[in-house]
Amino acid sequence: MENFIFQNPTKLIFGKGMIAQLSKEIPEGKRVMLTFGGGSVKKNGVYEQVKEALKGFDVVEFWGIEANPKIETLRKAIQLGKEKKVDFLLAVGGGSVIDGTKLISAGLMYEGDAWELVLKGSFRHTVPLGAVLTLPATGSEMNSGAVISRSETAEKYPFYSNYPVFSVLDPTVTFSLPVYQVACGIADTFVHVMEQYMTVPGQSRLMDRWAEGILHSLIEIAPEIIQHQDNYDKMADFMLCATMGLNGFIALGVRQDWATHMIGHELTALHDLTHGATLAIVLPGLLRTLKEKKRAKLLQYGERVWGITGNSEEDRIEKAIACTEDFFKSLGLPTRLGDVQIGEETIKEIERRFTERKVGYGEDQDVTGTVARQILENCK
Ligand code: NZQ
Ligand code: ZN
Repeated sequence: MENFIFQNPTKLIFGKGMIAQLSKEIPEGKRVMLTFGGGSVKKNGVYEQVKEALKGFDVVEFWGIEANPKIETLRKAIQLGKEKKVDFLLAVGGGSVIDGTKLISAGLMYEGDAWELVLKGSFRHTVPLGAVLTLPATGSEMNSGAVISRSETAEKYPFYSNYPVFSVLDPTVTFSLPVYQVACGIADTFVHVMEQYMTVPGQSRLMDRWAEGILHSLIEIAPEIIQHQDNYDKMADFMLCATMGLNGFIALGVRQDWATHMIGHELTALHDLTHGATLAIVLPGLLRTLKEKKRAKLLQYGERVWGITGNSEEDRIEKAIACTEDFFKSLGLPTRLGDVQIGEETIKEIERRFTERKVGYGEDQDVTGTVARQILENCK
């Protein structure tokens, strides 16, 4: 196990009716900016609950943080926040609203253009932020990451700032989610776990078992929540799987991959494809490409997660990859580039971008432009 320092300061406030607790969590006298997406919270009653809970607070509202939040939109929010001198932020929405609000929280403390912060990669001088999560997927409610896009150049990069001070997770607010978003959220959570697990075995028994526990839970609840979004107990499990999948708990002392995500971000940047859908395409292709390198862990994964035993190792590895792809298919997601009409031109562009940026992803930093091309070829 590698050395690590771990601290996750986010207070989780979990369960039905817990939005009412908001007033206890935001210090008195703060000028609060509430940030929202495109309006789903007005249809499902979340907006009313938040407004009711914040009666008596001095609030400013900012609407329109889109999926895959764009710097062009966030600049407007930062300008409004500076004008109104806000000193607390409350993000109400999915990962995009929370991520966008993390950049706003840094941008409010920065003199220059906020895109400079994204390019810098991190900025920890921030206005405090809380969240009301409406979509289980990203883990943004309990981590310090954000992923920000720029329309004019079709770019999308991760950025690190501060953790939310608190996050409210009420599973009933997820009942209004479209099936496609539930599917993408399950795929995203599954792949977050795989990025931290699918490297080499024997680093930490505990991390392996926790990761496998989340994968098992997702596989168990997926068929039900794809059919019925209003199953409270199963949605509650899903919400907690998503949070625990990317809040640092399963990453203690182990190596991580993240190549699937970095390739997925390019597919979103170039084609506006939903985040979880990009991962369902890239992960099986990545496993097909790197199966020798990940051999031992693929065998462990196959046996412990999918119950694959017997036959040759080769056969078990093929089955484990096939089970993974079939799982994504069972959610109704595309698993091949052809399913979403993406072809050679995009593969070439992603290879070019990675090579130009001189990047190497994966647990050994060896997923370069050339390897990304091989992975994408195996996603056809
Ligand atoms: O905008 P509104 O109207 O609210 O609608 C949203 C949006 O259209 C809708 N929605 C959310 N909650 C709903 C709902 N509709 C009905 N009922 C509800 N309860 O769902 C749509 C998608 O929302 P979005 O926030 O974009 O989805 P998600 O949570 O999957 O976030 C995706 C973004 O997070 C980034 C992704 O790259 C992407 O930009 N990620 C952030 C990470 C992090 N911060 O650590 C890690 C992830 O790997 C990921 O990269
Ligand atoms: Zn993700």
